[in-house]
Amino acid sequence: MLFDNHNRPITYLRLAVTDRCNLRCFYCMPEAGIRYLPKQQLLTYEEMERLVAVLARMGVSKLRLTGGEPFVRAGLMGFLERLSVIPGMDELHMTTNGVLTAPHVADMARLGIKSVNLSLDTLDRARFHQITRRDELPAVLTTLDELLAHNIRVKINAVVMDGQNTQDLFALAELARNQPIDVRFIEEMPFNGEGNHYPVLTWTHQRILAELKSFYPDLQPRPAAPHATATTWQAPGHVGTMGIIAAYTRTFCGSCNRIRLTAQGTLKTCLYDNGVLDVRALLRSGATNDDLTAAFLKAFAHRPKNGFEAEAHRPEVTESMSTIGG
Ligand code: GTP
Ligand code: 5AD
Ligand code: SF4
Repeated sequence: MLFDNHNRPITYLRLAVTDRCNLRCFYCMPEAGIRYLPKQQLLTYEEMERLVAVLARMGVSKLRLTGGEPFVRAGLMGFLERLSVIPGMDELHMTTNGVLTAPHVADMARLGIKSVNLSLDTLDRARFHQITRRDELPAVLTTLDELLAHNIRVKINAVVMDGQNTQDLFALAELARNQPIDVRFIEEMPFNGEGNHYPVLTWTHQRILAELKSFYPDLQPRPAAPHATATTWQAPGHVGTMGIIAAYTRTFCGSCNRIRLTAQGTLKTCLYDNGVLDVRALLRSGATNDDLTAAFLKAFAHRPKNGFEAEAHRPEVTESMSTIGG
């Protein structure tokens, strides 16, 4: 097993395959979009595959593809196929907004994709359009149906936004009544690509829980893995569950098992660092797999214990979630 300097196992890689997205969720990026990277600055699929294989040999066993939106990058399914046979990378997951995903679901099932986290903040078409600045709700709902039809485990990620979608929490939670869906409500974080302004968070995890309890007074806690981002709850008689991700008010640092590679090949050992290793430069200067392993080990030996810390000490966040990969 691979450990960091604080004895935390590192088992989970979040790989952003692109910084581009076909939606413009206002909590993630401005209407005009962000300044996208030129193609030559992105890791190629071959480079990503090599890095995944190196990290798998080091002990990373869970891979999540993120973006931007992974499906906007051409050739994604061929890449998934190659990832699915890398020895040691036991679990392949994806986070997607679902706009372009539906036609690929059957192949994803064939490749053994373990679960899909689908970003969906409302079931109301007008509000979806307002939040994402695109009228794509029907396509996302088709993706949801396809995932369920192919028995791929689905989590829904809904960012809870005051004045935007709080009237939708019940309808979203109800998705778990008859379907094996984990509906997760997320505190809004300040990664909106517009600089370091933190929203005054009125919908904290406590308030979200109180709201869910007002719908389901007998809501029961469910066990969750120590490194899980969400606390999990279930209403009696429901097939699925509800989750709450306190992304903004509390920290998961103590049990954090994850590292990130951004689309341009920067290693982040914490969501709040600004990148600790330029892996792309290493790759393109002819590094061997042993060189890469050594560079990764060095970075993992300097992981911050708590990159989040108290609000006043939080590092500046200027990035969009689309660049970081969530
Ligand atoms: P699972 O693998 O299913 O547990 O998914 P996940 O929660 O790791 O990934 P997902 O891409 O679905 O991210 C959901 C949300 O979790 C993101 O929007 C973030 O709000 C939050 N999140 C993910 N990683 C971190 C982290 O390291 N720190 C904090 N504070 N929040 C995180
Ligand atoms: N705050 C919280 N969650 C966010 N996401 C994107 N931007 C933000 C933000 N500012 C979520 C999306 C996606 C996940 C990877 O990150 O809902 O599902
Ligand atoms: Fe795209 Fe996800 Fe950002 Fe929305 S939150 S703009 S779907 S990357």
